[in-house]
Amino acid sequence: MQGKERLMKRIGPPGRRQPPRGGGCRFVIGVSGASGAAIGLRLMSELASRGHEVHAVITDAAVEVIRHEVGASWRLPKAVVRHGIQDPRSALNSSSFVVDAVVVAPCSMKSLSAIAAGHADNILVRAADTALRMGRTLVVVPRETPLSLSALENMAALKRGGAVILPPCASYYHRPRTVDDMTAFFVGKILDVLGVDNELYRRWGDGR
Ligand SMILES: Cc1cc2nc3c(=O)[nH]c(=O)nc-3n(C[C@H](O)[C@H](O)[C@H](O)COP(=O)(O)O)c2cc1C
Repeated sequence: MQGKERLMKRIGPPGRRQPPRGGGCRFVIGVSGASGAAIGLRLMSELASRGHEVHAVITDAAVEVIRHEVGASWRLPKAVVRHGIQDPRSALNSSSFVVDAVVVAPCSMKSLSAIAAGHADNILVRAADTALRMGRTLVVVPRETPLSLSALENMAALKRGGAVILPPCASYYHRPRTVDDMTAFFVGKILDVLGVDNELYRRWGDGR
């Protein structure tokens, strides 16, 4: 293995850095109108509770899905900064607002196609597009089943562009008992990609 290749394997592609342990990173969490709103909301709480700076952008469709799936009394964690989905003054419009990673969880097929096409007609898509442009970490959590050819092609395009595609695929080996257990598993997987320590699910081989 060449020196450069070895370094890339160790530290990842340029423009990506792992969050230091104990907080201090800036994350953008986009929630779009796919099922699984609890994943995005739990992710925000986990990051905020570890002292990370969390910026949220929630589409109009997502607000409806959250109301339906979580309840009318849903709230963002207090420390989270919410950006309007069409706010031209939002810092998320600009790549000069440096973030460590953008996560779209859950990601609808509509937002997926907009991100893949670079059709940045709202702040969520703009933030994701900026992450790709800047070579920053972008994690997309697409939620639909079964998948159309266009959805698969959009995922392939995003993967080629450097995104991590992390579908919320249920696992059984950690013996989930509740929907919360399953949500914690998905969020744990996202945190793993972000390099954030967590014990949200039982890892294979850890003997718990
Ligand atoms: C209860 C509910 C669940 C939905 N679940 C999904 C889903 O899992 N995946 C998906 O792609 N769209 C889903 N949709 C449809 C999207 O909300 C719709 O396509 C919307 O236009 C997406 O817009 P957005 O990407 O701007 O949030 C759902 C809609 C509702 C009302």
